[in-house]
Amino acid sequence: MTSKLLYQLDTDWTPSVFDNVVAYDGGADHVIGHAHVNADNVGPLVEGAIYTRGPKEKRFTAFFVGGSNMAAGEAVLKAVTAKFFGNFRVSVMMDSKGANTTAAAGVALLAKAASLAGKKAIVLAGTGPVGMRVAGLLALEGAHVTITGRQQDKTAAAAASISTRFGKEISAVAAPDSASRHAAIQGAHIIYAAGAAGHGLIDEAAWRNEASVELLADVNPEPPLGIGGIGAGDKGRDYDGKLAFGALGIGGLKLKLHRACVGQLFERADQILDAEEIYALAKATA
Ligand SMILES: NC(=O)c1ccc[n+]([C@@H]2O[C@H](COP(=O)([O-])OP(=O)(O)OC[C@H]3O[C@@H](n4cnc5c(N)ncnc54)[C@H](OP(=O)(O)O)[C@@H]3O)[C@@H](O)[C@H]2O)c1
Repeated sequence: MTSKLLYQLDTDWTPSVFDNVVAYDGGADHVIGHAHVNADNVGPLVEGAIYTRGPKEKRFTAFFVGGSNMAAGEAVLKAVTAKFFGNFRVSVMMDSKGANTTAAAGVALLAKAASLAGKKAIVLAGTGPVGMRVAGLLALEGAHVTITGRQQDKTAAAAASISTRFGKEISAVAAPDSASRHAAIQGAHIIYAAGAAGHGLIDEAAWRNEASVELLADVNPEPPLGIGGIGAGDKGRDYDGKLAFGALGIGGLKLKLHRACVGQLFERADQILDAEEIYALAKATA
């Protein structure tokens, strides 16, 4: 039996232990971590993968692109796929900072709970890797998406980057404090908090008093949560008609999805699992 080899191409100084463990749990026989990978030095690693095994065994070699910097991960993914030609390719999954799997899991749970098309969605602190993927996936579902961040320039740049990546219009609002974030959620149907761990973004009264709100999601697992008054373990908990999903409620599907994606890598040699592909699997799994 040919060994299933997963090469971690991590843009950080050390390969992620989290990604390493999940790779084994997802079915890889050996997981080999490479650190400080970038678009300029990844070429020989790709050549080692595509020129070794024959066509029938090639699917048992795969890449996982990770690290804490999404832009760096996207550059590595582009450089990896640029080396492929004909049958000289292997499957690749991209999940820098866990953003694809985390965003896909959360948005899939929302899409299962209600139609997102035409809804007004606010992604609070949506300038990080997870929030930017969440915004893109909500937009792909037909929602009208606005992201917030504390600084105008950074938020506008993040919105422009998401628009370019997903081909959808994304709005940006600077909301540096809770008062401005409370103003930003007015009229929203979906509130998705994607802020850094342990930072509260909006109070319970703010969303409870907003009649338009139907869905709440928060990926911050550490108290104070991004959305006050919901629970980290909520998975569709009904708060007087508003359904809430907390970080742990989303995290179960995220882990299941991450493992399933790794397993899927070894089914064929021609897959590129980025946001859209991982989201499709999330919707089939949620
Ligand atoms: N549930 C899961 O399975 C799972 C998996 C992975 C990650 N996560 C969680 O998902 C969240 C987002 O991850 P990420 O990597 O995208 O986060 P991140 O890049 O660390 O932070 C996201 C944004 O939070 C904002 N922020 C930082 N400090 C803040 C503060 N003191 N007050 C208000 N806003 C602040 C920043 O936006 P501005 O500077 O633009 O304001 C930043 O861009 C994190 O809480 C992470 O722990 C959950």
